[in-house]
Amino acid sequence: MSKLRLAIVGAGPAGIYAADILLKAERQFEVSIDLFEQLPAPYGLVRYGVAPDHPRIKGIVNALRDVLDAGNIRLFGNVTYGRDITLDDLKKHYNAVIFSTGAIRDAPLPIPGINLPGSHGAADFVSWYDGHPDVPREWALDSKEVAVIGNGNVALDVARMLAKHADDLLPTEIPANVYDGLTASPVTDVHVFGRRGPMQVKFTPLELREFGDLNDVDMILYEEDFDYDEASQAAVKSNKQIMVLDRIFTKWRGHDTGTASRRLHLHFYAGPVEILGTDRVEGFRYERTTPDGEGGVVGTGEFREIAVQSVYHAVGYFGSPLDGVPFDDHRGVIPNREGQVIDDNDEPVHGVYATGWIKRGPVGLIGHTKSDAMETIKNVMIDQANWWSPEQPEEQAIVDLLTDRGIDYTNLQGWQLLDAHEIALGEAQVRARIKLVDRGEMLAASQVSDGN
Ligand SMILES: Cc1cc2nc3c(=O)[nH]c(=O)nc-3n(C[C@H](O)[C@H](O)[C@H](O)COP(=O)(O)OP(=O)(O)OC[C@H]3O[C@@H](n4cnc5c(N)ncnc54)[C@H](O)[C@@H]3O)c2cc1C
Ligand SMILES: NC(=O)c1ccc[n+]([C@@H]2O[C@H](COP(=O)([O-])OP(=O)(O)OC[C@H]3O[C@@H](n4cnc5c(N)ncnc54)[C@H](OP(=O)(O)O)[C@@H]3O)[C@@H](O)[C@H]2O)c1
Repeated sequence: MSKLRLAIVGAGPAGIYAADILLKAERQFEVSIDLFEQLPAPYGLVRYGVAPDHPRIKGIVNALRDVLDAGNIRLFGNVTYGRDITLDDLKKHYNAVIFSTGAIRDAPLPIPGINLPGSHGAADFVSWYDGHPDVPREWALDSKEVAVIGNGNVALDVARMLAKHADDLLPTEIPANVYDGLTASPVTDVHVFGRRGPMQVKFTPLELREFGDLNDVDMILYEEDFDYDEASQAAVKSNKQIMVLDRIFTKWRGHDTGTASRRLHLHFYAGPVEILGTDRVEGFRYERTTPDGEGGVVGTGEFREIAVQSVYHAVGYFGSPLDGVPFDDHRGVIPNREGQVIDDNDEPVHGVYATGWIKRGPVGLIGHTKSDAMETIKNVMIDQANWWSPEQPEEQAIVDLLTDRGIDYTNLQGWQLLDAHEIALGEAQVRARIKLVDRGEMLAASQVSDGN
C-alpha cells in the first residue's frame, strides 16, 4: 500500500476539515498529515475573527479540537510558509500540499481620505479585539461619533463591538487590554452606511436582531430609506430571510427612542465618496443612491456629509499571495479548479491544492469550509498519479529541517498546554478563558518541546 505524505498550510477550519475528511475517506493508500500554522494557536478566524460575544460560534472549536486531539495529525505551530518553509522544502518532504491560508486583510476602499489617521480597516479592528498577536495592543477609541462603511456581517460585528458597553463583554474571552480600551471609549453614536437598500443587505437576520438586544443602545432608522421599490417589495414576499429582516426593521421603525446613552444608526442608499479631514478624520461624505430596478443602485447626485471622528471600512476581506504559488490579484485567491491549483495557462499545478477562503474568496460561513474541503480532497485523491516523489519522506526529516533552521515551532502538545493555561486564567475570573495576546507569552505557555 502506498502512502500519502500531505502538508496542509493553515490551521483554520478549512485546513482542519480537509485533514479530517481525508483521514476518514475510503482510500487505497495510507496517510500521514502535517499541519503548518503561522500562529502558536490553531483555528484561524474562529479564534481571531468570530466576535467574542458569539460564544456559540466560538464553540465550533470543540469540533475542530476533537479532530486535532484524535492524534493522527501533527501540528507545527509558529511556522510561516514563505518565511520558515518554502515550496521546495515541501516538495522535498511531501507528496502534496493543500493551502488553506484564508484571508486576513481588508479589501481596499479606494476613496479620498482613506489613509487619514482615524480611518481603519475592519480586519485590523477585529484582530485587535480578538487578541491577534500580530497587531498592536493599543487601539485609539477616542471618538464620540463613528462611521462604519459596509452592510455585511463584519460591519455589524464592528458596529456592535463599538456600541456595546465594555462591561457587557466582560463574561466573554476578550483580552484585558481590549476591555480597558473599550471601557475608555467615549462613543455616543455609531452610524452604519450601506450603499444599497435595506432589502439588499448582506448581513443576516440573527446578527441584525442582536442590535435590538444591546443594553443602553437605541436603534435609529430613517424613514426615507423604507420607501421600497418594486424589486424590494417582491423580495420581501419571495425570500424568507428578507421577510424576517423586514419584520425586524418594521418593529424598530415604530419604536420610541431617546433614552439610551448610545445610539446605533442604520443608513441605506449611501455610497461612500470621501473621508473628510486634514490631520485626522473629521467627517464622512456620501452620495445618496437610488435603486436601478435590478438590485443595484445609481448615484442621485445628492451629496451629504456627517461629522465623525473615526471611520471603519468593512467592505470585505482579501487573500494574500504565497511564494511560488499562482495568485489571482483581482480576486485575491489561488486560481483553482475545484481545489486543484491551476497556472496562468489553466493547466493543473500537480501536487498543489487549495481549500477554504483562499480557494473560494472571503465569503461564507465556517460550515461552508467543510463542503469546500470535501471537493478539494476528492481532487487530491483523483490526482494521485501526479503527486510529487519526495527525496526525504521520513516524518523525522521535516522536524530536523525546522530544528536546523532554529525555528521556534510548537506542536499539538504545546497548543494543548496554551489552551489549558488560557482556560485556567479565565476560571479565576469566572470567564470562558482569557486569551494570551503576546506571541512570546503564547510560546512560553506552549513550552515548546522537541518532536510531535
Ligand atoms: C470578522 C469575521 C467574523 C466571522 N464570524 C463568523 C461567524 O460568526 N460564523 C461563521 O460561521 N463564520 C464567520 N466568519 C467566517 C469564517 O470565519 C470563515 O468562513 C472561515 O474562518 C474561513 O476558514 P479558512 O480556514 O479558509 O480561513 P481562516 O479561518 O482565515 O484560517 C486560515 C489559517 O491560515 C493561517 N495562515 C495564513 N497564512 C499562513 C502562512 N503563510 N503560513 C502558515 N499559516 C498561515 C492563518 O493564521 C489561519 O490560522 C467570520 C469571518 C470574519 C472575517
Ligand atoms: N455572524 C456571522 O455569521 C458572520 C460574522 C462575520 C462574517 N461572516 C461571514 O463572513 C463573510 C465575509 O463578511 P463581510 O462582511 O466581510 O463581507 P460581505 O458579506 O461580502 O459584505 C461586504 C459589504 O461591503 C459592501 N461593499 C463592498 N464594496 C463596497 C464599496 N466599494 N462601497 C461600499 N460598500 C461596499 C457590500 O455591499 P454590496 O452588497 O452592495 O456589494 C457589502 O454590504 C460573509 O459570508 C459573512 O456572512 C459571518
